[in-house]
Order: sequence, then C-alpha cells, then structure tokens
Amino acid sequence: MCGIVGYIGHRDAYPIIIKGLQRLEYRGYDSAGVALYDGTDINLAKTKGKVEELKGKAESSISLNGNLGIGHTRWATHGVPNDVNSHPHYSNSGNLVIIHNGIIENYESIKKELIKRGYSFSSDTDTEVLVNLIEEVQKTEDVKLGKAVQIALNQVVGAYAIAVFDRKKPDEIVVAKLGSPLAIGVGDDEFFIASDASPFIEFTNNAVYLEDEEMAIVRLGKEIKLRKIKDDAIAYPNIMELQMNLEEIEKGGYDHFMLKEIYEQPRAILDTYRGRLLADKGIIKMAGIDQHLEKFTNANRIVIVACGTSWHAGLVAEYIFENLARIPVEVEYASEFRYRNPVITDKDVLIAISQSGETADTLAAIKLAKEKGAFVFGVCNVVGSSIARETHAGAYTHAGPEIGVASTKAFTTQITVLTLIALKLAKEKGKLSKTEFHEYLSELENIPGKVEKALESNPLIEIIADVYKDSTNCLYLGRGYNFPVALEGALKLKEISYIHAEGYPAAEMKHGPIALIDEQMPVIVIATKKGHYEKVVSNIQEIKSRSGKIIAIVTEGDKQVKDLADHVVEVPETIESLTPLLTTIPLQLLSYHIAVMRDCNVDQPRNLAKSVTVE
Ligand code: M6R
Repeated sequence: MCGIVGYIGHRDAYPIIIKGLQRLEYRGYDSAGVALYDGTDINLAKTKGKVEELKGKAESSISLNGNLGIGHTRWATHGVPNDVNSHPHYSNSGNLVIIHNGIIENYESIKKELIKRGYSFSSDTDTEVLVNLIEEVQKTEDVKLGKAVQIALNQVVGAYAIAVFDRKKPDEIVVAKLGSPLAIGVGDDEFFIASDASPFIEFTNNAVYLEDEEMAIVRLGKEIKLRKIKDDAIAYPNIMELQMNLEEIEKGGYDHFMLKEIYEQPRAILDTYRGRLLADKGIIKMAGIDQHLEKFTNANRIVIVACGTSWHAGLVAEYIFENLARIPVEVEYASEFRYRNPVITDKDVLIAISQSGETADTLAAIKLAKEKGAFVFGVCNVVGSSIARETHAGAYTHAGPEIGVASTKAFTTQITVLTLIALKLAKEKGKLSKTEFHEYLSELENIPGKVEKALESNPLIEIIADVYKDSTNCLYLGRGYNFPVALEGALKLKEISYIHAEGYPAAEMKHGPIALIDEQMPVIVIATKKGHYEKVVSNIQEIKSRSGKIIAIVTEGDKQVKDLADHVVEVPETIESLTPLLTTIPLQLLSYHIAVMRDCNVDQPRNLAKSVTVE
C-alpha cells in the first residue's frame, strides 16, 4: 500500500507534496517523508506518524525550497513503522533518493550481494535495497539513471510503484510500475506523480496511468516517454482527461469523510444508475454488458471474487442473480480463489468487485481467471484503476472518491450496479415478466429518496450508540438478502471502533453464537417485513428470553418487533432484494457514532489502509 507523490516543474514542490500526501493517507499512515531538491542539494525529512507530524518536522528542520521533490506516506510491510524505515530512502552515495509502494520479494538475497560489495543499510526496508541496487548498476554499467532503474528492476521480483531522482541530474524523475498504481499528471511544462490523481486534480485534468512493467522518465521541457521495463520497447502514453473535481475529495463541512460518504449515498446511488436505468423506455443500458451479452447469457455460472466490503456486496449479488436471473453464482474471497487452483473454464464469467480497483488479491484472481479462459468483468469505483484496466469489460459504480477507510457508499453503489446487471440478464433470459421488470426499475428510482429517509434515523442512532459504546462484543443477525448486510455491519463496527463483532445468518445463531448471549450482549437484528420475517421474529424471541439486548432494524410501521426489541430503527419499505440498500444505512451510522464516542480515528482506523495493494 503506501501513497507516493512527486513534482517537477515551476511551482514550489513542498506544498503540492504535503497536500498530496494528505489526500493519499487513505493508502497508509504509519509514517511519512519528503525529499526536495533546492537547486544544489537534497533536503529530506521523514518521521513515524501521519503527514501532519511530517509537516511539523519538515517545517522546523529543513529548507522547503525547490521545484523538484518526492514524498511518501507508508503502510508498513518490511520493517516496523519508525523514522528510519520511513521513505524516502537515500542510496549509499547520497545521490539517489527513492520512494516506493510495493514489496520487493527477493530483497534479502540482493541485500546480501550488495553488502559483499561494500554497501551498508540503515533501515530494514526492501526499498533501501532497491535504491542501492540502482546505484550499483549505475556505477558498474556506467549508465544514466533511467537505464539503471530499468536494469535493476529486471533483477527484482515483487511489486512496485517507484519514483527516484538523482542529485547529479536534477531535471528528471524516473518512475516505474508493476502491481502498484502510478499516475502522471501532465501540466504546462510540469509533471505530477502520484498513486492516484487526487494530489494533482486542482492543477491538471490530464493524466497518464502507467501500465504494469512500464517506466517513464519525466523530464522538464520534454514530453513523457514510456518504456517497457522488460524489453525496452517504446510505449505511447495515453493521456486521459479526468472527470474528478476537488470538491469531491474534500470533507464539505462534515466532521469525517465517512459521515460525508454515508450521506452521499442517495446521490451516489442515483449517479450509479443515471443514464443506465431508462424506466420510461423499460430498458437498462450498460455498455460493458451490452457488448458481451452472450458471454453472460451463455455462462455456466458466475464466479464473484472480492475482498472485505466488496465481498459482502458480492454475497448480496449472489442472492439477486440467482433469484432474478436464475444463473448459478459462487462468491469467493479473492485471496482464497487465487491460491486454491479453482476449476474455471471459458464457460465461466468472473465478476471482480473492488472500490479501489487496486486490491492485490482481487487483481491476482482476475489474472488467474483470464489465464484459464474465463470472461472477466470488473465492478470498480476508481476510474482507470488497475482492475478496471485488467478486466475484459466492466461497469463503474460512479460513487465518487471514497476516502474514509471504512467503505460505505462503495457498498451500496456496488449493490446497485450488480442489481442492474442481474435485472438486465433476468430480462434477457425471460425470467421476469414485463410488469415485474418495470416494478423493479421504478422502485430502483425510489431508492435514493428512501435512503434519504433512512438517514433521518441518525439522531436516534446516536442515542443508541451512546447506550452501547462501551460494549466489548456485538452480534449482527440477518437472513437472506440481509445476511450479508449483517456481515457488513459487523465489519464496520470492528474496523472503526475496535469492538469485537460477528455477523451471522439469524438461524445459525442457535448452532453456537447463542451461547454468547447474556444481558451484556447487544444483538443487532435486521427484521424487515419481507424475507422470512416471522422466522426472524422467533430468533428475536430466543435472544430476548436469554436477556440479550436487541436493536432491531425494521420496516416502517412495524408493530410486532417493536414490542420485543429494546430499540427499533425504521427503514422505508421496498422490494425484498433492494432492502440491503436501506438496512445497511443505520448499521453504518451506528458504527460511525460508536467510533466517534470511543474517540477512535474514524477515517483512518489503526492498522488499516484504504487500498490493500499487498497480499
Ligand atoms: O478496494 P476494494 O473494494 O477492493 O477493497 C476491499 C477491502 O479491502 C475493503 O472493502 C475493506 O474491507 C474496507 N476497509 C471495508 O470497510
């Protein structure tokens, strides 16, 4: 993981790098660093902790002048988070300085070799090994920096997005990518380098996304030149025009990005189906599906791969696809799928779901499925991300940037896209009548308004959060479409409030978890009217008779559960398969308020990162 930023041009590099690192902190925030070239020398500051701490250190200890610089925010892999292991790293001569996102797997053997040749190392990182390998190549082969980087990268195994410059040739930055994202913002005689476009969006809309195994020399006064790292072939940069704007990536008056993103869901869901759901014409238009319709309609089965919250969206999709389109679906953790030699053929369609589009396990699962001949479809939020580019076709969720580490709007927009696909296929396969299809389309159009309504429960949820904020355990139960929502609710609570929480299918409770229930145990039960309501009511009774505390998510106007539960939160009524889009809202708000009350860092929970680009 980690975020990287670089700048070369006519502006002061420092403010661009610091601001850029702050926007990339979702990628990791164990430590941060910056290296600036002031016209004669490199000034470097780095520290354990967040970019704010780096700011304090840099502004009190180094010269901040210079129009060339690189910066890094780290999610530790090799070496504990401390000042020394922070990036940037110097080479032994002090001439080269590097930032790196990724893992060099064979760094130990390279390090041993370099030590034999007289190199010494101050950190435990693989990155310091890489910069010294580049220096060694520069010396022994007598080549320029670009060539040295290329030769060195051909000797390493692993993943990287790097930016490196040389004090002796301070008119260029060399960048390269394999497995970790790297974008180059192209301005007027200036270049920006970053893990995604957010650090440079206010300066330029033009960006080049490096492909795997590509490198570039970004040089003042020159156009970008791309090369293939393996065979030195020239590649032509595809300069994309970005749609993102600055407002979208700032907090807009909310205390946390997570809360802003929760409240953005009505708009995000609308943006997801805008232009796709044409209710008046009775059609769903999705280019990625339309162009490959037969792949889906002839598929033996759909295999969904994803991680975390995206995996939960996949589980919801399993219910929707099987119920509506009658296509068999399997949902797999990408990390398991990629290592278990799965049976995949050219009759399978693999759907990879990922907010960031950079999750390493999901990317590897895609590559494996492609090798085995499957048609691979991506559902991503980040435009131009690695997964979006690696898949045969796809559909963006159009949720807008999600900065909070805990996924919220990504989940509901993923479910929206997957519902559109399922409905389209159901129609194509004749599994839904015209009237049923129309009912779905018009109800989908009501969902943003119903999400708004669900958000109105916020003050009540704050009161409930206050009652349970000191709990040590929590159980989430749901059935059918709402079983994955229970899993998602539990994940949200544990990741941002550090309270242990488990999600279960409600009926599974009596096969074990019921033993945990006592008067200390809050149980959040999703008990909406449709979907085995009576059975869930029985489960609630079972909890009640063991003195558990019940927080029930019910359909507006519910009476039966109201009499049993300690707290009820209402959501508007909708078609059963669409209930996850509403029931998930109170669970997001509950975890948010509990985390705030526990004084936790909501947007950047400990040990986590927004985009998990390592295994
Ligand atoms: O970017 P992705 O959707 O591929 O990320 C997958 C998971 O890492 C992610 O959903 C993670 O579980 C979130 N922190 C959940 O809130």
